[in-house]
Amino acid sequence: MRFFALTSVLAAATCALAQEAARYGAVSIDGSNTVSAGQTFSVTYNSTAARYTPKTVDFLLQGTMPNGDRSAYVVLARNDFPADQDVLQQDLTMPDVTASLGSDITNWLLISYITYNYDDYTPPVVMSGGTSTPINLA
Ligand SMILES: *[C@@H]1O[C@H](CO)[C@@H](O)[C@H](O)[C@H]1NC(C)=O
Repeated sequence: MRFFALTSVLAAATCALAQEAARYGAVSIDGSNTVSAGQTFSVTYNSTAARYTPKTVDFLLQGTMPNGDRSAYVVLARNDFPADQDVLQQDLTMPDVTASLGSDITNWLLISYITYNYDDYTPPVVMSGGTSTPINLA
């Protein structure tokens, strides 16, 4: 398993996130979804209902800027996801997103962003997408 506790910002391609829970699996925050900088919190990704088998699962944050645009992604962790695995529970430490990116970004989402092979082509057709749950940055 690769694990990077990064606070870097990923300029990823756009993806349809919110309504794709069934296709991309489900993500939840264990306990309170209000988290402060430096706090460790536990998240669970569950691929049981996902249409495809994830190859990787990244946990990201994304908020909404004052002009209504979505912010860049904040990468919390990146993981390989074995084919025989269904659930990934992971402890994450919240970076100081408000200090680094600004306190005017609101409506934060915790996203589980997956990559997967579309059917069984050679070379593989690698797709990506995500599902999300609201998170409050205290
Ligand atoms: C994963 O999701 C399935 C249903 O999609 C559920 O039955 C199972 O209990 C979940 N597992 C965990 C650990 O939450």
